[in-house]
Order: sequence, then C-alpha cells, then structure tokens
Amino acid sequence: MPLHKTINFAQCVGSSTQIFVWKITESYSDLFAGVLLNENNLRRLSGMKSELHQRGFLSVRMLLQEAGYSDFDLHYDEFGKPYLKNGKYISITHSHHFSAIIVSDQTVGIDIELQREKIIRIADKFVDEEFSYLDKNNQEEYIKKLTVIWGAKEAIFKIRNEKGISFKDHIKVKAFRLDDKESKAELHFDDIVKNFKLFHEEIEGFGLVYAFE
Ligand SMILES: CC(C)(COP(=O)(O)OP(=O)(O)OC[C@H]1O[C@@H](n2cnc3c(N)ncnc32)[C@H](O)[C@@H]1OP(=O)(O)O)[C@@H](O)C(=O)NCCC(=O)NCCS
Repeated sequence: MPLHKTINFAQCVGSSTQIFVWKITESYSDLFAGVLLNENNLRRLSGMKSELHQRGFLSVRMLLQEAGYSDFDLHYDEFGKPYLKNGKYISITHSHHFSAIIVSDQTVGIDIELQREKIIRIADKFVDEEFSYLDKNNQEEYIKKLTVIWGAKEAIFKIRNEKGISFKDHIKVKAFRLDDKESKAELHFDDIVKNFKLFHEEIEGFGLVYAFE
C-alpha cells in the first residue's frame, strides 16, 4: 500500500490543509514509470547518489499526483524551498522508506524522522531550554520527544527559510505530552518573536511533525 495515509485538516474556519504520506515499497523503476518529471528534476534525480534518496524523490511526485498536481506544478527557490505555481503552500519531507507532503492555503512546514537512539547523542546540538521538561531517564519517551522537537525545528525552518536560524538558540518548543499530538513553538530571530502551532504523530517508528505559523 504505497499511499499510507491522508490527513484532511482545517486549522481554522475557511482554511484547508492536506497531508499525504507515502510508504515506499516500490522499486526505483516502478516509481519512475509512474510519474512525469520536468527537465530540471530529471537532472537532479540522475545526480542523486543513493537509490533510497531517488525513490524518496520519486515517491514525492506520486504524492503530488494524489494531491492533484504534477512535477510541472512545482518549482524551487535558490535555497531549495518548494512552491506550487497556483499559489498554495507546500512542504516536502522524506526519510528512509517514508515521504510526506503538506499542501495548504497557509504557510506550512513538515518533517518526518526515524525515531532512533542516535538522536540522544546529538541532542545538545539542537535542544536548549526544552531540556527543562525532558526526562532522560525514560529513554523511550525521551527519544520520541527529541524526534518531535527535531522535526518541529526542521518544519519551522522550512517555513521561514531564513539564513542564520539556529535550531538550538532561536527555536523554542514548549512543553508537550506525546499523547496530546499538539504543541507550540516560538522563533526568536532578528529581534522578532514568531509563534507556531505544531502537530505531531507517530507512524511505524517515525515521527511526523507539521507546523503552521
Ligand atoms: C533543508 C532542510 C530543512 C532539509 O531537511 P531534511 O530533514 O534534511 O530533509 P527532508 O527530507 O525533511 O526535507 C527535504 C525537503 O525540504 C525542502 N527544502 C529544502 N530546502 C528548503 C528550504 N530552504 N526551505 C524550505 N524547504 C526546503 C525540499 O523540498 C526538500 O526535498 P526535495 O528537494 O526532494 O523536494 C535541512 O537540511 C536544513 O538545512 N536544515 C537547517 C539547517 C540546520 O540548522 N540544521 C541543523 C542544526 S542542529
């Protein structure tokens, strides 16, 4: 079952957001046969070193089709941020054998990450005041929460797309419970504070986070 999940979401009255998640079980050639790519992206695809990355990239084009778009509706800015030509907002993520896109009429960011022990070793690099509510002794929960915090910071970075943002120093994820599936964060950058609403869920050992400004 390649299309793993669709989430329809109304952040407020009159707004609409859709999230599509793909579980990549297909071979490279099956995925390649299922999509049409523009010239730029054909070039990008052939330059990718890992087949897993290529399959992730192609599966995103499958998700675009599920959302009613194609590769020809998508373009990227100089930093690699994707845009839809019809003015809707899009964000893209892929990790191992999962990929996801979010399409909305509001600014959005999405991130999917594998929940793994290794994240404990790099926590110092992206966590600061969040340590005040994290319980290192409960390792399973600690890994899951770190994965949410990392995903939240990636998703917020993808929304703002600003040079100089530090995950550790500028993005602060407020205390949350895994069961609540919702949290909040602030970006303190360039003397301005921006607020974000976050939603997280677990999919087969992966943490999926999406953020709205
Ligand atoms: C660009 C970045 C956000 C990508 O995130 P990632 O977790 O490595 O990879 P993901 O699969 O989740 O996301 C990749 C997608 O993000 C999107 N993307 C890339 N650059 C982007 C940007 N500047 N803004 C918004 N979206 C971007 C692209 O759609 C890309 O996929 P595609 O090129 O196949 O379409 C990330 O690598 C990055 O630069 N982060 C900020 C730097 C940083 O501070 N890192 C760690 C500090 S401890």
